[in-house]
Amino acid sequence: MKFEDKDFLWGAASSAAQIEGAYDIDGKSLTVADLIPYIKLKNKKDLSEIRSLGKEDFLDGLNPNSTKTYPKRLGNDFYNRYKEDIKLMKDAGMNIYRLSVSWARIFPNGDEEVPNEAGLAFYERVFKECRKQNMEIMVTLSHFDFPYPILEKYNGLLNRKVIEMFVKYAKTLIERFSKYVKYWLPFNELNICLMHTHIGLGFFSEKTNNHMDIIRKSFQGLHHLFIVQAEIIKFAKKYPDIKVGCMVSDMTTYSYDCNPINVLNNLKQEQIRKWFFFDVMVRGEYPRYSKRFFKENNIEFTIAEGDMELLKNNPIDFISFSYYQTHTTSVTENVGQSQGNLIDGGINPYLKQTEWGWQIDPVGLRYELNQLWDRYQLPLFISENGIGAIEKLDKNMTVEDDYRIEYYREHFLQINEAIKDGVNVFGYTMWTSIDLVSGSTSEFDKRYGIVYVDYDDYHNGTGDRFLKKSYHWFKEFMRTKELK
Ligand code: BG6
Repeated sequence: MKFEDKDFLWGAASSAAQIEGAYDIDGKSLTVADLIPYIKLKNKKDLSEIRSLGKEDFLDGLNPNSTKTYPKRLGNDFYNRYKEDIKLMKDAGMNIYRLSVSWARIFPNGDEEVPNEAGLAFYERVFKECRKQNMEIMVTLSHFDFPYPILEKYNGLLNRKVIEMFVKYAKTLIERFSKYVKYWLPFNELNICLMHTHIGLGFFSEKTNNHMDIIRKSFQGLHHLFIVQAEIIKFAKKYPDIKVGCMVSDMTTYSYDCNPINVLNNLKQEQIRKWFFFDVMVRGEYPRYSKRFFKENNIEFTIAEGDMELLKNNPIDFISFSYYQTHTTSVTENVGQSQGNLIDGGINPYLKQTEWGWQIDPVGLRYELNQLWDRYQLPLFISENGIGAIEKLDKNMTVEDDYRIEYYREHFLQINEAIKDGVNVFGYTMWTSIDLVSGSTSEFDKRYGIVYVDYDDYHNGTGDRFLKKSYHWFKEFMRTKELK
């Protein structure tokens, strides 16, 4: 089958903390990601050991004698190999690269008067290289790597002062780089910040088994995050060639069965875990259903004068979202647990799972694209999608990753169907082109790339790059646009 849209953007996505390495080079400060230690899991489907890490565990990373491994300090050596990696993407036929900038390279403490020129120079080299290869660029400003000094001194986005600091960082980048970068995403997967506050909002939550306690406190930070985003959109209007979008982790759930009680419960859950975020950023107001949710859960936060007007006048230009899995929900049945990196849910007996228990649901992608388009009529972009697997180089120095080819083929077919349905989806960046450090588990052995990188969980290896079978498959697809 031939892919419909000729002008579609095809590329790969990554994040600074998962690829760059060079964690203390050219003036960069430590980020919260640099303080996350590697923990070898006994059971890949149980992330509780990682999720229960608290402030004290992270602070151990500040001790120069700590004996732990901190993989996000090392990445896949993109800092030194960016030219090779961008060329590999270009040679595969990609025409867009989504990457993130590390705030800690630009304003290492967050509150400096002037930016760190060495940090800006690095990204200028990277962006120039992308443009030289005729690739569009999509930049995420904050991908789970708040500079640690901002957590320590300001308590992240709970503090209104951090709004100014973030906006100054964003303006600095837009002023310098709007000539290279067309698409801007202020925050990665911003809807997970309510649960994972240290990476999403820049403050440590108390250890508690009651999620609602964390969520209650986080809403103030989330409100400030929306304000940051609106301020950036307002500023970006001076630059007619750039677009500012959002990036939300797709949390599509299906009711486990057709019991109306479960169907209604699923609707309520999707409102709060998914639609709420889009509704605020597209419509510029807190949706009616959230008012009841706030009241029933004693959620209160301060809205300063002018905030709601700012939100109303500065909606996002486009919607982007990551799509890895779907879950089911039920209040009457005890359905088994399926996994995800940031949030878990119920099992769906119709879906296969990855080795980490993530349910693979290509049809759900078409369903979600249709829902988003029907609800908002804003251009859509799939900013992450991919499959992690344990892989080893074979004797031909490649990986026969047929499961990844099947994964991509199935998802691309569904995007194609959504386009035929009349949905305006303009691009897709796979997670990812070059193997990198896992976001949730910080392991290297959970590989997502179509290019293999010779590092293991402890960063042993040469770091050399090898093409997997999926790389050749994707390149052929780019050449012919035929989905074989
Ligand atoms: C997304 C994140 O949630 O999922 C990425 O934006 C992350 O940073 C990706 O790497 C895949 O998750 P993981 O935990 O398997 O690396």
